[in-house]
Amino acid sequence: ESAEAAESHPADFVVVANRLPVDRASDGGGGTAWRTAPGGLVTALEPVMRDRQGAWVGWHGAPDEALDPFDYDGYHLVPVQLSAQEVEEYYEGFSNGTLWPLYHDVVAKPEYHREWWDAYHAVNERFAEATAQVAAQGATVWVQDYQLQLVPQMLRQRRPDLRIGYFLHIPFPPIELFQQLPWRRQIIEGLLGADIIGFQTPGGAQNFTRICRHRLKMETHREVVTLPTGRSTRAKAYPISIDAKGLESLAQSQATLERAAELRRELGDPEVLFLGVDRLDYTKGIYHRLRAYGELVADGIVDPRKVAFLQVATPSRERVEEYKRLRDEVNMLVGRINGDLGDVRRPAITYLHASFPRAELAAMYTAADVCVVTPLRDGMNLVCKEYVACRSNTDGALVLSEFTGAAGELRQAYMINPYDINSMKHGMTLAMNDTVQNKRRRMRALRRQVFTHDIDAWATSFLDDLAALPPAQAPSSGP
Ligand code: ADP
Ligand code: F6P
Repeated sequence: ESAEAAESHPADFVVVANRLPVDRASDGGGGTAWRTAPGGLVTALEPVMRDRQGAWVGWHGAPDEALDPFDYDGYHLVPVQLSAQEVEEYYEGFSNGTLWPLYHDVVAKPEYHREWWDAYHAVNERFAEATAQVAAQGATVWVQDYQLQLVPQMLRQRRPDLRIGYFLHIPFPPIELFQQLPWRRQIIEGLLGADIIGFQTPGGAQNFTRICRHRLKMETHREVVTLPTGRSTRAKAYPISIDAKGLESLAQSQATLERAAELRRELGDPEVLFLGVDRLDYTKGIYHRLRAYGELVADGIVDPRKVAFLQVATPSRERVEEYKRLRDEVNMLVGRINGDLGDVRRPAITYLHASFPRAELAAMYTAADVCVVTPLRDGMNLVCKEYVACRSNTDGALVLSEFTGAAGELRQAYMINPYDINSMKHGMTLAMNDTVQNKRRRMRALRRQVFTHDIDAWATSFLDDLAALPPAQAPSSGP
């Protein structure tokens, strides 16, 4: 289908995200293949789109490739092209070398380069333009995440008739860190183009309104920010979630149960199985977690002949320097722990650097006695919610970092501070040895939270708030 055809079928609901739910990745043999795009954004938004059948504007993951719009799973995908240089400067550079570390508490050092900013600005313009082309008169547009913070304002300039929502999937940093950014004013003004700016936590929303008040001298009252033009915007928390029921029924299927049992056999029938599931990202605390586990083995608290640790890590942002370093460090650490402490029959840690289909992940969650989630900072973290959704027999234990958005909701988890190795060791030990009654009580509370606050509740609360605002006054200046 051509771009012209897309224009003749304008969409009433449009999601705009850096990535489409599928991307075209190198197949290792010189060609490309379609695969599900990695990360929490796609996991969360896919079910929302399936229900609402709109259009999704995004990049398809391959540099320099122009693709026509196409239909997928009942909705319309509109690919945005990025050149190889833009992938380097806008995606790997400004998005993942500047914003990602800055917004995650500077756990790695952000780099500030003017040419990266220029590329970010230019690519945001392209996304705004593509969206202005597909959105119907008066449509609702929902812009996603840190890669596209300028799009709300750019879109409003082109199409004042639209209702524009924005959601940030990662943390919004405190003013003391945000003010490092040379382009801080432009970013805030870009976001303020939206009618509602959604954050994962109340803390993130407050950081944002505080910057508007103190740095831009705007009037704020609770969640409402009033712009100098008189227009107002809301900054509010909407903690994101998962399709809990869908994942639970996948976990309960015969095939998954059989695969979970088989997995345990393949891992040597351990008495206790620990599990970690992450994108290979330095914010996830993978290194810290494995180090703590290694110490438990070295201390003799964990016997690797009876206890297994399965760590799976999806390859991510592999050309960004910090990610290359992390990959090497984790490889070395796993090698060292297994070399020092493993057994001929049983490594202390089974480490898989790969992406897995949802059914396989569901089997891992079903098989694991303890799921270990230890980010140094995470906007929400969906892995912990996925684990909880899969534990219908209410045994199993969740070890969770205080530094995740999810910690605000999943209060009955075994909470740890990932910066404190003793806290991590203690949390893992307690989760492994706690009484069945305690584990069940905690898991029941966690499940109540996840099932009553699922992805549908998240999307509905955001979109209902957006729909309740008075319609845009200005007439369309768009197509
Ligand atoms: P982020 O968005 O930073 O990657 P989240 O925890 O919010 O972190 O979301 C991660 C998503 O990616 C989850 O839906 C999880 O199931 C999925 N995922 C993580 N690791 C893997 C893996 N090795 N294979 C397949 N999916 C994975
Ligand atoms: O959820 C946060 C997020 O950064 C998404 O925006 C992104 O799609 C996902 O993680 C995975 O990262 P990437 O798109 O860079 O592979």
